Amino acid sequence: MDRIIIRGGQRLAGSIAISGAKNAALTLLPCALLTDEPLTLRNLPRLADVDSFGHLLNELGISTLVAGARGHDFGRVLTMRAESLSSTVAPYDIVRKMRASILVLGPMLARAGQATVSLPGGCAIGNRPIDLHLKALEALGAEIELTAGYVKATAPKGGLVGGTIVFPMVSVGATENALMAAVLAKGETVIENAAREPEITDLARCLVAMGAKIEGIGTERLLIQGRDRLHGATYSVMPDRIEAGSYACAAAITGGDILLEGADAEDMSAILIGLRDAGCAVTVEDKGIRVRADGPLQPLTLSTAPFPGFPTDMQAQFMSMLALADGASVLTETIFENRYMHVPELARMGADIQVRGRTAVVRGVDHLIGAEVMATDLRASMSLVIAGLAARGETQVHRVYHLDRGYERLEVKLQGVGADIERESDG
Ligand code: UD1
Repeated sequence: MDRIIIRGGQRLAGSIAISGAKNAALTLLPCALLTDEPLTLRNLPRLADVDSFGHLLNELGISTLVAGARGHDFGRVLTMRAESLSSTVAPYDIVRKMRASILVLGPMLARAGQATVSLPGGCAIGNRPIDLHLKALEALGAEIELTAGYVKATAPKGGLVGGTIVFPMVSVGATENALMAAVLAKGETVIENAAREPEITDLARCLVAMGAKIEGIGTERLLIQGRDRLHGATYSVMPDRIEAGSYACAAAITGGDILLEGADAEDMSAILIGLRDAGCAVTVEDKGIRVRADGPLQPLTLSTAPFPGFPTDMQAQFMSMLALADGASVLTETIFENRYMHVPELARMGADIQVRGRTAVVRGVDHLIGAEVMATDLRASMSLVIAGLAARGETQVHRVYHLDRGYERLEVKLQGVGADIERESDG
C-alpha cells in the first residue's frame, strides 16, 4: 500500500492548478443514464472515485471513452453513451466502495422505469441514511422495496410523474437524485428546501444543456418541467472548491503564498472569509485566488452548515491550520455526527484538541511534530497532510487510497509549490 512521506517546514509558494470538482463529477457522470445520446464531460478529475463510477456505468451497459489522459496534465475528457441499459442493478461490490453510487438510483429509475441499488451502508463519517432519497422518488410515484440489502425502485406504468418534494432537512445527494429523476418525469415537479451547493448548480446547468427545463437554479426551490427525452451535450466540470480550500490551508499553515489557479471565489465565500479571519491575505485575481500568510494565524469560531455556510468538507483541514494559531478556536460540526476521526491523529503530532459532542476546542500550539499517521476518510487524510507540511521532521501518512479518492495527483501539485513530499510504495 502507498504512503505519503512529508518532511515539513517548507514555505509553499507558486501556483496550483485546481482540478474539476469530485463531488460535481460524481453527480454529472450518472446524467449519462438520462439519454441515449453521448454525454461528454470535460475537466473531469483523475480520481479513484471517478474511475469507480465509470466502472459502475459500464456495469449498467454504458460505454465510456476517455481522451486527454496523457503525460502530466490534469483532468481528462470522457464521453459516455447509454444507447440502452443492459442492467438496472448497481451491485454491492461497487456500491460498498463508493457511497455516491446511490446517485444512479434517480436517473436509472427515470430512464428505465426501475432501478435496484445496493444499500450503501454505514460510512466512516457517521451513519448516513438514504431515507430522503427514497421519499423524494416516492413523491414522483415510485414504489420502493427494501430486500436483502438492496433498494428496488419501480416507476408507475407510464413512468414517473411530477410531484412536490419537501425536504425536511438539506441533503446534497437527495436533491441530486430528485433532480435527475424529475427531469424525465411527466409534468411539473417542485423541490422545496433543495440543497444549494455549487455542485447542484453545476448538475442543473448540465441537465439544462441536455434539454431539461429547470427554474430556480442556485435557490432552495427548484421547479422542473419534465421532458419526454433529453439529448446529448458537452459539459465542463466546475473547479473543486474543496481542493482549492485545502491548498489554501496548506499555504496558510506554512506562511506561504499560493495562487489557486482556476478557483472560483463565488463558490468559496465561507472558506475565504475563514481564511481572512485567520489573518491570511486573500485576493481574487484574473487567473484565480491568491492566498498569502505572513504573520501568525488567528483563532476562529466556526460552525459547519449547508451552503452558503462553512462546508463540513473543510472542517478537518481548517482544524489542522488552527492547531498552530495564536489562541483557542472553537469548531462545531453540525452535518455529520462522527467527523472528528482526525483529532487523535493530530494529537499524536502534538496538537491540543478537546472534543465534546459536536464541538472541538483547538488550542494553538507552538509547533507540530512529524509522526506516522493514518485517517479513515478523505478530508481527514488531507488534514494530516496539511499538518505534516508544517510539522518538524518527517510525517508518514498511511492509507493513501483515501487521498486518491479526492485529490488529483496531490504530491505532484504540492511538489510544484516547494513541498518536500513524495509517495512511497510498500512494493
Ligand atoms: C455530499 C458530499 C459530501 C459532503 C456532504 C455535505 C458528494 C458525493 N458528497 O454527501 O462530500 O460532505 O454532501 O455537504 O457530493 N441525510 C439523511 N437522510 C438522507 C440523506 C442525508 O438523514 O437520505 C443526512 C446525512 O446523514 C447528513 C446530512 O443529511 O447528516 C447531509 O448529508 P447529505 O447532504 O445528503 O450528504 P451527501 O450527499 O451524502
